[in-house]
Amino acid sequence: MLENGLNDPRIVVALDYADAAEALELVEELDPAYCRLKVGKELFTRGGPALVERLVNDDFDVFLDLKFHDIPNTVAQACAAAADLGVWMVNVHALGGRRMMEAAREAVERVAYRPLLIGVTILTSMDENDVREIGLTGTPHDNVLRLAELAQRSGLDGVVCSSQEVLDLRQAMGKSFGLVTPGIRPRGAQANDQKRIMTPYDAIRSGSDYLVVGRPITMADDPMRALLEIQAEIDVAFGEG
Ligand code: C5P
Repeated sequence: MLENGLNDPRIVVALDYADAAEALELVEELDPAYCRLKVGKELFTRGGPALVERLVNDDFDVFLDLKFHDIPNTVAQACAAAADLGVWMVNVHALGGRRMMEAAREAVERVAYRPLLIGVTILTSMDENDVREIGLTGTPHDNVLRLAELAQRSGLDGVVCSSQEVLDLRQAMGKSFGLVTPGIRPRGAQANDQKRIMTPYDAIRSGSDYLVVGRPITMADDPMRALLEIQAEIDVAFGEG
């Protein structure tokens, strides 16, 4: 994908806040040259499109993490609306199927500044039982691989994947398919409620393109310093070629 370095930030800070004011307080401490921002369902539902536009106007690349999943026409219109907000990345559920993903792709292509369109495969909160219960055969891992391949064939730019999946997906999907990985913890950081974590260094070495990082930055005494420390780990990983 893109090259590492200034103005191509690999760190996507998860703005998991209940209101816009709190999110903006954190954002004021961050430099858009070193990070992108992720706005999820809670913050978007409270802060609305105005917040996203404000972040975009402040020069941040925004990943709008709303995981659209509906009939093709509805998802296409929602993706077009996200693109109109000027977001850098938007996502849909791969379980919505090929026609839904193709419609989403066509919709984002119609805007001048096309956002990256990525898929969610199997939510990492789901275990073998959950997957079986909704009628899918095979392990969660089998389903992740199958859905990622479907997402690629449907024209998506990549998928969100856990640190457990990134190595296999990089091998299966080739170099140009984007992999976005949450559950990242710098060495020595608290895991919080994440069960399977990976360091920024290992995530990049395993083939991840973008690292979603929340609490290690948002809860830090000095968020910008925490961000730069993670960037330093990423630089080491890239430096080893
Ligand atoms: O604070 P922390 O670094 O754990 O935040 C991770 C972010 O990534 C949160 O916004 C969380 O919802 C998101 N995420 C995740 N695991 C997934 C998908 C998304 O942690 N499988």
